[in-house]
Amino acid sequence: MARIFSGAQPTGNLHLGNYLGAIRNWVGLQDSYQSVFCIVDLHAITVWQDPVALTRQTRELTAAYIAAGIDPERCVIFNQSAVTAHAELAWLLNCLTPIGWLNRMTQFKEKAGKDREKASLGLYAYPVLMAADILAYKATHVPVGEDQKQHLELTRDIAQRFNQLYGRDVLPLPEPMILGAATRVMSLRDGTKKMSKSDPSDYSRINLTDDRDTIAQKLRKARTDSEPGVTYEPERRPEVANLIRIYAALDGRTTDAVVAEYADAPFTDVKAKLTDLAVEKLGPIAERMKQLMAEPAEIDRILARGAERARAIAEPVLDEVRQTMGL
Ligand code: ADP
Ligand code: NA
Repeated sequence: MARIFSGAQPTGNLHLGNYLGAIRNWVGLQDSYQSVFCIVDLHAITVWQDPVALTRQTRELTAAYIAAGIDPERCVIFNQSAVTAHAELAWLLNCLTPIGWLNRMTQFKEKAGKDREKASLGLYAYPVLMAADILAYKATHVPVGEDQKQHLELTRDIAQRFNQLYGRDVLPLPEPMILGAATRVMSLRDGTKKMSKSDPSDYSRINLTDDRDTIAQKLRKARTDSEPGVTYEPERRPEVANLIRIYAALDGRTTDAVVAEYADAPFTDVKAKLTDLAVEKLGPIAERMKQLMAEPAEIDRILARGAERARAIAEPVLDEVRQTMGL
């Protein structure tokens, strides 16, 4: 059976982009694929994380997966650090990944900022850990946002290099799966930047746990332009286009249908209706997350059980890799 692997970082501020671009799409895949969904805490610590917050955010992300409709019985849900095969396979792959390949990764350049010398070695090697995450499960498909396409390409290059060097087809090359109309949700403050957990402005994103008043206020303040009329022109009117895409994704409609409905309306109408929609779709998820978070021991039990099932898949793959390398 085809197998998917995907993950998100437990770095807090879970937002509409994470939901529409990732988690929501996974829900529809669990029937057709053996599904492994990871909370990638080892990726999170490539930049500083407060220990207490990290533990809480790991539970919160688990709760979000489940609240959004991912079934912990049918899928494997676990946190990365609980399965040591990830770190071990990453080291083995580090040893056959040329530095030149990592130097081409654009996300490192963005995340490391100006003073690149101060970035951690972990942040630099992050894409190799991601390759290990995927290859440890011999995943056939990886649902990714646009932002992760380059890393998945690297994963394929690393697998191919391993197979070539050792003359055996040990690691299958995973296929990217780009899903959903709102694959890239942009910041509410700047239509050229993606909505992100790490944006210092809370007004740039709608968090999954925002209440009605907060959502309404963020959407009222969301940047648009002074042109009358509602049109979908991503190049010329990126902020308006972003809100139309979010609307369409939440309502299960096309952007054309949304534009047709509001063509002559003031944009405040779109924002008001979008507030209702966001509350309607996110409210029940936030409510369920709250219930789950009230029982942390139950979340920990789900993660422990998931880690056990993850180990059962990943450890034999790691053994095969080690044997192939003569270790
Ligand atoms: P972030 O990029 O906000 O730090 P993660 O790296 O944990 O979040 O990403 C988790 C998932 O959410 C990934 O699959 C990523 O592609 C997706 N994602 C993150 N931001 C967006 C966005 N603005 N639009 C669509 N998908 C996104
Ligand atoms: Na990301």
